[in-house]
Amino acid sequence: MSNVVITGAQWGDEGKGKIVDLLTEDADYIVRYQGGHNAGHTVVIGDKEFILHLIPSGILRPGKKCVIGNGVVIDPHALLAEIDGLNEKGIEIRDNFFISGRAHIIMPYHRAIEKESEKLKGSLRIGTTGRGIGPSYADKIARVGIRIVDLIDREVFREKLRINLQEMNYFLERLYGVKGFVLDDVYHEYMGYAEKLRGFVADTALLLDRAIGEGKNILFEGAQGTHLDVDHGTYPYVTSSNATSGGACTGSGVGPTKIDKVLGVVKAYTTRVGSGPFPTELKDSTGEYLRERGREYGATTGRPRRCGWFDALATSYAAKVNGFTQMAITKLDVLDDLEEIKICVGYRYNGKRYDEMPSELKVLEGCEPVYESMEGWRASTSGISKYEALPHKAKRYIERVKELIGIEIDIISTGFRRDETILLRKIF
Ligand code: GDP
Ligand code: IMO
Ligand code: MG
Repeated sequence: MSNVVITGAQWGDEGKGKIVDLLTEDADYIVRYQGGHNAGHTVVIGDKEFILHLIPSGILRPGKKCVIGNGVVIDPHALLAEIDGLNEKGIEIRDNFFISGRAHIIMPYHRAIEKESEKLKGSLRIGTTGRGIGPSYADKIARVGIRIVDLIDREVFREKLRINLQEMNYFLERLYGVKGFVLDDVYHEYMGYAEKLRGFVADTALLLDRAIGEGKNILFEGAQGTHLDVDHGTYPYVTSSNATSGGACTGSGVGPTKIDKVLGVVKAYTTRVGSGPFPTELKDSTGEYLRERGREYGATTGRPRRCGWFDALATSYAAKVNGFTQMAITKLDVLDDLEEIKICVGYRYNGKRYDEMPSELKVLEGCEPVYESMEGWRASTSGISKYEALPHKAKRYIERVKELIGIEIDIISTGFRRDETILLRKIF
């Protein structure tokens, strides 16, 4: 029996979905613990591509149990649409799926407030996914949020909604000058969702505690990445939850003594969507090459992802704040055609050299990366599933990443399909 947390080591889109799907084979429960439908996790099985937003990627393997923990914010409409979409593709979602009654919900006023607030910020906007994630978490922390258990209790829901709308409509109408929401309209819309979701609601902390007692394997599926974490990321250009491994405990109700391993998923280069500092960003033809070759377009919003070299400072910071016990490196094949490959091993700012990732935004925004250069292998690694079959220079790149981060690499991904993977050590 073992319980494994999977987290992104960079700014999201590291390929967590593919790795989760792969490891689900040996897991009994797969748990999402933070974020919401801002996430987009791509899994390719045969010739079918699935993009999961809220439902754990484990749902694609029959017989596995999937849980949305208390730390997730749920847009009921988005969740029901995702369930319908999966049902249409032949994926069953019935007694294999559980939602925490303690999870908070996203309301239409959250989306509206976020839209207006981003507009107001102008060039300082975060570049959010526009899903209402931030305002929903803000309400949770301000203790005015509405939880799933509140949604499925008509009276509680109506009363909370009535009080919240007084405040929210004031902001929308008086501050932003846009239309507010009508109590009855929102109430009736959400009562429709409540009926459809009721059957999935459970005390998932108790459910997982029981599963652990029975010796089941649990896989925790992180969304976003370390540098989008509200505490450890490039604040304020972050999401509103704890995307780091600690979030797996608070966001599921499973205590830290029950976690055995933390697997960091690392892309062989770096990408970021939305605003915020990105020291190794490439705004040239190499950046363009990575975007096209790596198909770096947002799985949720379709936005082109910003691309750049692998940043050892950002990744080793992630290794520390997450407590990585091992890593998976993805998208090695995307580097196949490059003549030269760079790794950032330091930042220089105002004459000072940084060997660890600083927290000051002005340093991250204004620094010059210090690069180590390696010769590219210029051969195809696409689909390779044996370490021995990798070109010598590709192995050297992997070895160098491992050495700089100081964590073993257990998985190397060479394509988006399940079998396009080198598994060096079993995770469960
Ligand atoms: P996530 O949010 O971390 O789950 O990652 P996304 O699904 O948003 O983005 C990762 C993209 O890379 C998806 O389109 C995957 O199908 C794809 N992908 C994952 N691993 C590999 C790989 O090793 N090679 C290639 N070429 N693509 C990969
Ligand atoms: P996965 O799970 C990449 C980014 C947004 C924006 C910032 C805040 O697929 O890796 P939000 O809507 O969360 O308030 O936006 O966070 N962002 C992501 N970037 N991958 C994601 O998820 C992301 N989820 C949010 O682009 O910069
Ligand atoms: Mg993604």
